[in-house]
Amino acid sequence: MSPMAVSRTHSVALIPADGIGPEVISAGVQVLETLTKCDGSFSLSFKHYDWSSGTYKATGKYIPDGGLEQLKKHDAILFGAVGAPDVPDHISLWGLRLAICQGFQQYANVRPTKIFRGTESPLRKAEHGDLDWVIVRENSEGEYAGQGGRSHRGHPWETATEVAIFSRHGIDRIMRFAFETAQKRPRKLLTVVTKSNAQRNGMVLWDEVAQEVAKEYPDVKWDKMLVDAMTCRMVLDPKSIDTIVASNLHADILSDLAAALAGSIGIAPTSNLDPSRQYPSMFEPIHGSAFDITGQGVANPVGTFWTASEMLIWLGEEEAAKIMMDAVETVTGRGLMTRDLGGKARTQDVTEAVCEELVEIYSKKGKGTG
Ligand SMILES: NC(=O)c1ccc[n+]([C@@H]2O[C@H](COP(=O)([O-])OP(=O)(O)OC[C@H]3O[C@@H](n4cnc5c(N)ncnc54)[C@H](O)[C@@H]3O)[C@@H](O)[C@H]2O)c1
Repeated sequence: MSPMAVSRTHSVALIPADGIGPEVISAGVQVLETLTKCDGSFSLSFKHYDWSSGTYKATGKYIPDGGLEQLKKHDAILFGAVGAPDVPDHISLWGLRLAICQGFQQYANVRPTKIFRGTESPLRKAEHGDLDWVIVRENSEGEYAGQGGRSHRGHPWETATEVAIFSRHGIDRIMRFAFETAQKRPRKLLTVVTKSNAQRNGMVLWDEVAQEVAKEYPDVKWDKMLVDAMTCRMVLDPKSIDTIVASNLHADILSDLAAALAGSIGIAPTSNLDPSRQYPSMFEPIHGSAFDITGQGVANPVGTFWTASEMLIWLGEEEAAKIMMDAVETVTGRGLMTRDLGGKARTQDVTEAVCEELVEIYSKKGKGTG
């Protein structure tokens, strides 16, 4: 396909950041470049941003002055992971990832989970097809609103507060997003996770708004579940669940459990969406910087491939996104996987196998790499 035929170009900011972030983002870019070359109907232009804990240690800032203004120019952001052993986690998280999520009102955090073909769930009774969930996480307020403070530092009576914020506006928009997400899925089934028995203010408002919004989606079947009971249901009855909506903290924890139940945290994707599309949305694997395996070439790149596929859907390239996931699942189906999934393959083996599979799929469709 000649470059002249490319009709659409999407501009993507790359922020690989720390630990295994650069390893998995480089794998993701390799697969995306193969995909666009084979597909020929659209292209991606990448701009690399060296914002990381290294930058923070050298300059005192994760994001340089005017950095968010630069990011605004892109159609999407592909993010690796942030966190370094010698920087406190709350500094790295708020300095980079949350500064982007909150600055760009990416209030909907979407975390799909499934058991890939060829892989095994730690659950005895769950196989490929039995666990297929989407977790919608409120991403702008709740327990991670950043409200609180510390007094009397260093004294025995030192006190810290962490205030969870629940606004009608914030709950309403995430509930609508969750009901719409459930409505688009075949089962049209939503579970609203809560803790309104113990948290009698914010979570009671959460439940009331859910009840009100639900009336506008009569075709979506929904139920309500306390977060502690939800962990049991995820383990004991995974087939009864489809779409889940939960607060910032609850969904953060449930989605790591979901990823582990699907086989590994290394396969799980996240989209931080601004559904109004005023700002670019940010796409990242769920996992962190994984110091224990950094530099070994064994990080699972599948979470980043799935993340990149979700980014393509957001950019309007649904067909290419589906082909990308077909290629990934064909590779896992052949048993080629990294050690977190019980395999022996290295990051690069999986990446090259997915690229080869893409070439194969497109050549069957009569499209080449040239
Ligand atoms: N979105 C983010 O940037 C993000 C998310 C979570 C944690 N963090 C940060 O990352 C650092 C480490 O955090 P953690 O250890 O709690 O979580 P982690 O996700 O980095 O690692 C947890 C475990 O999962 C394994 N793992 C993670 N991703 C993997 C992959 N792709 N392939 C194979 N194995 C994988 C790791 O080796 C480790 O044993 C901390 O600084 C933390 O704050 C960042």
